[in-house]
Amino acid sequence: MQRQMRTLVLAAAISLSVSLKAEFKASAEEGKKLYEANNCGSCHAMDKKVVGPALRGVTERRSEEWLIKWIRNNEAFRKSGDADANALYKEYGGAAMNIFENLSPDQVKNILEYIKTAPKPVAPKAAATVEGDSGKSDSNSLYIMLALIGIFVIVLIILGKVRNTLRRLAAEQDGTAEDNAKGSFIKGLMPAKLAKMNPTVLTVFTVVILGGIGFVWSYKFGITEVGVQKGYAPKQPIAYSHKLHAGDLKIDCKYCHIGVEESKSATIPSLNICMNCHKGVQKASTAEGDEISPEIAKIYKALDYNPEKIGAEAFGQNPKPIRWVRIHNLPDHAYFNHSQHVKVAGLACQTCHGPIEKMEVVQQWSSLQMGWCIDCHRNAGIDAANNNYYAALHEKAAKDLKDHKNKSQYFGPDGKVKITPAMNGGLECAKCHY
Ligand code: HEC
Ligand code: HEC
Ligand code: HEC
Ligand code: HEC
Ligand code: HEC
Ligand code: HEC
Repeated sequence: MQRQMRTLVLAAAISLSVSLKAEFKASAEEGKKLYEANNCGSCHAMDKKVVGPALRGVTERRSEEWLIKWIRNNEAFRKSGDADANALYKEYGGAAMNIFENLSPDQVKNILEYIKTAPKPVAPKAAATVEGDSGKSDSNSLYIMLALIGIFVIVLIILGKVRNTLRRLAAEQDGTAEDNAKGSFIKGLMPAKLAKMNPTVLTVFTVVILGGIGFVWSYKFGITEVGVQKGYAPKQPIAYSHKLHAGDLKIDCKYCHIGVEESKSATIPSLNICMNCHKGVQKASTAEGDEISPEIAKIYKALDYNPEKIGAEAFGQNPKPIRWVRIHNLPDHAYFNHSQHVKVAGLACQTCHGPIEKMEVVQQWSSLQMGWCIDCHRNAGIDAANNNYYAALHEKAAKDLKDHKNKSQYFGPDGKVKITPAMNGGLECAKCHY
């Protein structure tokens, strides 16, 4: 009896401690903070593929235990031989996710809770993704609208014909057939009041209505999204990594993007710049054996370079340029100049391009839409006092402030003096449009 009691107490104690352990309750709010503090969002979004997979629903695809191991140290997890982890890594072309051993398993659970409960976007806007799948639904709604309009027009024509016939019959009875024969086919389609209107007024009226419909439509379904490829991260012909070169090796952006301070274009480096190092560096330091890395071999092949030979002899006669896939691309009617932003305004590349030095594969970070340019031109403060480029603007501002003229425009919301590109013509159409 006593023994039974003891077992019971013991069992109760065990279950109590088990339930105490399970007492941890994941907090989406904490998770959100951790998600942001660790910059998960620089590579992930909830609903679309960025550098890494879309995260919504991941807790259904994978077990919690798997996710904790993956997120805390995906590299060790892959090396442990987990098939799913290795398959995923392969699927993403070897783009490595960072290691987050700073996160405790409970903190990871918080993040997972946040992912589970993250609100869905209210009005899912069509941001063209690499797959372009959102574009599909847009053209679907386009087809539906077109079909509806088609049906509407057919119904109108039929009604018009019926109406014409009825009128003619009625007129024949009244003996005024001549009068109606003049009525055009189009007029026959219209209600009697409209048909009596002045044709010019009528045309203007129609154009305005159709134009209005067209405008609302294109606003909703198209034009505002043309060329928008936020998150676009195409696979490049050589698996060149900014994370490795600009991040780990800390090579200055300007070492390769030589145009960025002096000209409109930042420019993509020629492979000769790569060869400053890659004549010598023929493989990753972690690779075993002496095999030339297949990715670096692509540089050699493109330059028709033979690493077995030395000096001028090593370069053959048939170099072929590498066709990097262009990522950022404004439409032809828009003008953007790097030197103006990097040199004159002193903006860091990351302001517009995001954390490139962490990207294994470059992705378009900003929308590059007109609203994005304008937003910054309205809000960015420029250092007009210490920059000759703004001498005239600065003088005018100083004078206005002294004369108490239009003073309020020169102050930001925090009450400090703030001069923006907008004041220097940064909102004028012609500055950005050819
Ligand atoms: C530098 C980019 C990068 C950062 C930062 C990053 N990830 Fe990832 N993540 C990836 C990539 C890429 C993959 C796909 C697998 C691979 O190639 O390693 C991935 C995969 C995942 C997966 C597995 C998804 C699936 O479909 O199975 C989860 C979960 C995940 N990441 C969560 C996170 C969380 C949480 C953070 C922040 C603490 C984070 N990631 C930060 C790049 C990143
Ligand atoms: C060692 C040379 C090198 C360095 C250093 C380098 N890049 Fe690049 N960058 C390239 C190459 C090559 C490409 C084209 C392939 C690609 O997109 O990955 C490129 C592409 C880009 C693109 C996308 C171009 C497009 O097609 O729209 C951006 C943006 C960019 N780099 C920004 C940066 C920034 C910012 C830095 C510094 C943090 C930097 N790069 C450092 C070589 C370099
Ligand atoms: C300033 C020196 C330097 C320049 C310039 C440079 N690289 Fe590298 N690159 C390295 C080093 C060092 C490594 C090896 C890193 C390691 O694994 O330790 C490397 C690694 C690589 C790898 C990975 C090889 C592998 O198998 O893992 C590729 C691909 C690569 N570079 C391509 C390029 C391209 C393309 C350019 C020109 C746009 C370029 N690099 C410019 C120094 C440079
Ligand atoms: C004010 C925003 C802004 C800043 C700051 C900025 N860029 Fe850009 N970048 C753009 C835009 C917009 C484009 C697209 C230009 C186009 O299509 O004409 C672009 C395109 C590029 C391209 C590809 C096309 C080209 O011009 O050759 C590269 C490479 C690039 N940027 C690198 C850089 C580097 C490196 C820096 C920092 C030294 C930088 N950018 C700073 C906005 C910016
Ligand atoms: C992150 C902030 C930022 C973004 C984004 C930005 N700009 Fe600017 N822009 C500036 C600043 C600051 C100046 C003032 C420097 C100067 O006058 O050269 C400027 C100046 C300019 C000027 C020259 C105006 C003048 O002074 O005559 C043009 C043109 C311009 N930007 C075009 C663009 C276009 C096009 C885009 C979008 C594709 C864009 N900018 C996006 C900050 C930005
Ligand atoms: C600071 C630069 C800037 C200024 C100022 C500017 N635009 Fe734009 N605009 C752009 C850029 C960049 C695009 C391309 C956006 C895209 O591809 O989504 C654009 C696109 C457009 C388009 C094509 C439709 C669209 O939304 O893509 C029209 C029309 C247009 N601008 C008209 C104007 C007019 C009119 C003005 C003057 C009131 C003006 N813009 C001033 C940068 C500017």
